[in-house]
Amino acid sequence: MSKGFSDGFLWGGATAANQCEGGYLEGNKGLSTVDVIPAGKDRFPVMLGKMKMFKSDEEHYYPSHEAIDFYHNYKEDIGLFAEMGFKTFRLSLSWARIFPNGDDEVPNEEGLKFYDNVFDECLKYGIEPLVTITHFDVPMHLVETIGSWRSRKMVGYYERLCEVIFERYKNKVKYWLTFNEINMLLHLPFIGAGLVFEEENEEAIKYQAAHHQLIASAKATEIAHKINPEFKIGCMLAAGNTYANTCAPEDVWKAMEKDRENYFFIDVQSRGEYPNYAKKMFERMNIYLEMEEGDEELLRNNTVDFISFSYYASRLTSADPEVNAQTEGNVFATLKNPYLKASEWGWQIDPLGLRITLNSLYDRYQKPLFIVENGLGAVDTPDENGYVEDDYRIEYLREHIKTMRDAVIIDGVELMGYTPWGCIDLVSASTGEMKKRYGFIYVDKDNEGNGTLKRSRKKSFGWYKKVIETNGEQL
Ligand code: BG6
Repeated sequence: MSKGFSDGFLWGGATAANQCEGGYLEGNKGLSTVDVIPAGKDRFPVMLGKMKMFKSDEEHYYPSHEAIDFYHNYKEDIGLFAEMGFKTFRLSLSWARIFPNGDDEVPNEEGLKFYDNVFDECLKYGIEPLVTITHFDVPMHLVETIGSWRSRKMVGYYERLCEVIFERYKNKVKYWLTFNEINMLLHLPFIGAGLVFEEENEEAIKYQAAHHQLIASAKATEIAHKINPEFKIGCMLAAGNTYANTCAPEDVWKAMEKDRENYFFIDVQSRGEYPNYAKKMFERMNIYLEMEEGDEELLRNNTVDFISFSYYASRLTSADPEVNAQTEGNVFATLKNPYLKASEWGWQIDPLGLRITLNSLYDRYQKPLFIVENGLGAVDTPDENGYVEDDYRIEYLREHIKTMRDAVIIDGVELMGYTPWGCIDLVSASTGEMKKRYGFIYVDKDNEGNGTLKRSRKKSFGWYKKVIETNGEQL
């Protein structure tokens, strides 16, 4: 049994293209789903696929268009990550930067070159890129022409994207994640899968789209291992165990069902087949998935090498319809847990829940795990030099790293690395705000898009540097 984190433990930080790059039409990039999701009151209806917004307009503000302009600032940003001692940097590729329409015959060289530059900059400092192939984005052209992931054709376009990027970056990138928070498509279908609904059976469409993503993920794994057998391919789950509100067996059963809703995706990606509970659920819901010949075999033969996940909070549920005091601001509906404090956005803070989640996932899959998102979204108040005394963030991370260490040292969970979310302040996915900050690096920009975009180190910057330097010994 190990005494601490392994020598090669991948400490780092995580971002996503749409929340930090900006340059939304620069370098021949096409329009993505995320580029038409506004800030403000229409954001949720659009993310849910209930409100059609296929173009940006003058009345709304679209935070992805400039975001924090990583597109022009990547050298400075990666330099700051290097200063903290990052071993890895998680970023995503913007699909529409590489295939502007999604169905183009040839990829966009300027887009490919941009990521070459980003990877070279990382490698210059010995930072290993950890690449999410799609993090909440689909080229809008594919939404408009084929309805995005509701169509099987998406698998082919995704495959082409994978072939191109795996070939191009095979000597620069080793770790890949196929879909960010693959279970998100059940909760925010436009964000997760570019789905927009008419009057129709939404559940059936969501699960059909899920099947397409699961097939695409297996194909990606197959192609990746052929192109470079050294590649490590991971799935990615929005995780956080569901607790039962009481010890009433009905509550415990409800909690198990809730967890299965999420595990379903990883069960397929990691064990290689649809679990029986899901098949039975589809029968009950009158959902008949369209499968092609060879799908089952493809899933069976191409399971992921590791399981990555995000963890922000645990969840709480009850079978009793009278018990319904929900927390605010959670994409995953959850009851208020009286034993936990919550962030300013109502996300319940539960460090031990991370150890529980790590153990549950490891028990279930017996594969190496990777925490690719964790962190506290909070309001920061910088002084005139942009310095933020963010002890609350340090405390959140410290308590989570402690339980992560327990999971490794005491419980024997295999853990590859830890990349806290939004290592540099970026746009919030759920609210579109800048005010909800996660970073070690402050970015001068507000919710309305004003600011100099100047970067500055917060107190947590120096703290995290020490954590990495001591391989998690000094917290
Ligand atoms: C995860 C996403 O859901 O949580 C990120 O993968 C997101 O894209 C992160 O930013 C934090 O959520 P939010 O809504 O605070 O940005």
